[in-house]
Amino acid sequence: MRLRVRSAALVLLGALWGAQLALAMEAISTSIAVGMAAALTGFLASYQNVFYYFHECCRNEWISFNKTGLQVDLERKLFGQHIASRVVVKALTGFMNNKNPKKPLVLSLHGWTGTGKNFVSQLMANNIFRRGMESGFVHQFVATAHFPHASQINTYKAQLQEWVRGNVSICGRSMFIFDEMDKMHPGLIDSIKPFLDYYDNLDGVSYRQATFVFLSNAGGESITRVVLDFWKAGRDREEIQLKDLERAMSLEVFNNKNSGFWHTSLIDKNLIDFFVPFLPLEYRHVRMCALAEMEAQKMNLDEDMANEVAKDMIYSPKEERVFSVKGCKTIASKLEYYR
Ligand SMILES: Nc1ncnc2c1ncn2[C@@H]1O[C@H](COP(=O)(O)OP(=O)(O)OP(=O)(O)O)[C@@H](O)[C@H]1O
Ligand SMILES: *[C@@H]1O[C@H](CO)[C@@H](O)[C@H](O)[C@H]1NC(C)=O
Ligand SMILES: *[C@@H]1O[C@H](CO)[C@@H](O)[C@H](O)[C@H]1NC(C)=O
Ligand SMILES: [Mg+2]
Repeated sequence: MRLRVRSAALVLLGALWGAQLALAMEAISTSIAVGMAAALTGFLASYQNVFYYFHECCRNEWISFNKTGLQVDLERKLFGQHIASRVVVKALTGFMNNKNPKKPLVLSLHGWTGTGKNFVSQLMANNIFRRGMESGFVHQFVATAHFPHASQINTYKAQLQEWVRGNVSICGRSMFIFDEMDKMHPGLIDSIKPFLDYYDNLDGVSYRQATFVFLSNAGGESITRVVLDFWKAGRDREEIQLKDLERAMSLEVFNNKNSGFWHTSLIDKNLIDFFVPFLPLEYRHVRMCALAEMEAQKMNLDEDMANEVAKDMIYSPKEERVFSVKGCKTIASKLEYYR
């Protein structure tokens, strides 16, 4: 397939070049012609990635949403996040099955550290793109790594807009993940705002099929307070509903004057389609993370070791000690230490 694309391009370029060359050099020797063809092939080979990239996008075999796959993954691999699982499946199913969405899908994932926000974005990518996070159509930006200097904000803005525009023109179903959204410069968020809105197109590019995923710790404290109240009341964690968290979460998020995210009008302009809360994880979840990690590392499943690892984590608040302060983060490295 790639060969065919390349030879088609060769014929095209060859024809263009040939037409001009024929006028100038009638007596061109065969050896020069062969040499030129070889040079042209080399030139095209370096563009092979571009062809490949283009080709990758235009085919269903590279992008196809697998709802069952996502559900199964979330059920088996994600622990203690019944609300996030439900919201993510609902949001993606509606959006991916819609051939003509009115606006791009914008998800905002909130919660305490190590509760599975990056993990879930990875599971989403795995069930949309054949190559998952490795796909050329999934783009992850980490505020502190990609845009560290406030003084260069104007460069970043131009760069980010160009990246989003360029990638969406190549592939409408591109996915953009913005990590550490709460550490992102408000100006930078403003620069992507037009892409999130209900526009038919902007300068000839339509963003309506793209997915934007924001990750942040904003709202984490309020989420924890609600989960703790349920815990104290002896109620089942699974009884917690999205509406129990939404109010508390938006209050914290609105009132956090330090967070760049919220200086912008993302929220009051209703550009975010779904708020996805991640609950703080308990001992039993950390234990399951440890077992999952053993499986991933192809170790023998060792319940005692899983208990040890879970016991070693720090839990808060001070009196109750129910929630793992780092969630399931650092479990992988802890296992190294125990094995
Ligand atoms: N709820 C969960 N279920 C299963 N595994 C989890 C869960 N949360 C975290 N993990 C494991 O811990 C690792 C770290 O979690 P992840 O990077 O998703 O946290 P995060 O919410 O993005 O945290 P931070 O806010 O610090 O970025 C994941 O790669 C995954 O292996
Ligand atoms: C979708 O996911 C399910 C469950 O993981 C899997 O069995 C199935 O083969 C997947 N379908 C496609 C088309 O990849
Ligand atoms: C797509 O995004 C990446 C960053 O993820 C960037 O390096 C690349 O230049 C972008 N492509 C286009 C065509 O703009
Ligand atoms: Mg993260």
